[in-house]
Amino acid sequence: MPDILISNEGPVRKIRMNRPEKKNALTLAMYEAMAAAIEDAGTDTSVRCLLIAGAPDIFCAGNDLNDFVAMARTGALGNPIVRFLHALARCEKPLVAAVGGAAVGIGTTMLLHCDQVIASDSAVFLTPFVSLGLLPEAGSSLIAPRLMGNARAFSLLVMGKSLSAEAAKSVGIINAIVPAADLNAQALAAARDIAALPAESVSAARRLMRGNVEEIVARIDEEVEAFKTRLASPEAKAALAMFLNRKR
Ligand code: COA
Repeated sequence: MPDILISNEGPVRKIRMNRPEKKNALTLAMYEAMAAAIEDAGTDTSVRCLLIAGAPDIFCAGNDLNDFVAMARTGALGNPIVRFLHALARCEKPLVAAVGGAAVGIGTTMLLHCDQVIASDSAVFLTPFVSLGLLPEAGSSLIAPRLMGNARAFSLLVMGKSLSAEAAKSVGIINAIVPAADLNAQALAAARDIAALPAESVSAARRLMRGNVEEIVARIDEEVEAFKTRLASPEAKAALAMFLNRKR
């Protein structure tokens, strides 16, 4: 089965991360597939809302750390990653996410681009960028302080403190907490509710609420450049090696 499953359910395009044996850690091919699905939705008038989901017990363990090691050697950050981040920021259709289990790194920062996030009570949100010698990405260095204030964004993005579902709701990352068994149905219901609204009006309201998208894209690009430098740093190399060589 592919690592990314794409399906249309009526007006809702579902994008499901499906690499459970690696906790839905994202490979370049997975970024590419998600970026293409989002970009294509932009020109497909039958799609009125997108729904991003993972597995019931894991949303996404972040970027594949083996890929980060390979990128540290070449000094490049994969184009599919940047393409995905741009697609998220520039997406003109409403984005809904269904989060069960851990949302790590990009698993959490992609949610900052979503319009509705439904999480199960087991969901936990963390971005251990700095403890890996890296730094926040996906425009999160701009969006998170605006959303939750600098102090709380610093705890999340720099100190790597995790947020429970309740805490993520209180800082405004998620809308609702539901029992795990209801997660998919509730997230789909939210996506369908949005899809049932007048599409042009949704789009116009959303555009106003998101403000200057190119400012976010510019911050993504700035973060990408800084991220490349961090990836090549001794701090990052040591931290990545520690995770990949850990004994369990
Ligand atoms: N990149 C590559 N492989 C990963 C991964 C990642 N980001 N996250 C998990 N995996 C792999 C593990 O190496 C393991 O592979 P193996 O079975 O071949 O040894 C498998 O997925 C299962 O992971 P495991 O750690 O045993 O699961 P867990 O339930 O104990 O813990 C997490 C789940 C998500 C908490 C833990 O895997 C984790 O912390 N992952 C790294 C998250 C991270 O730092 N992401 C980058 C953020 S910038």
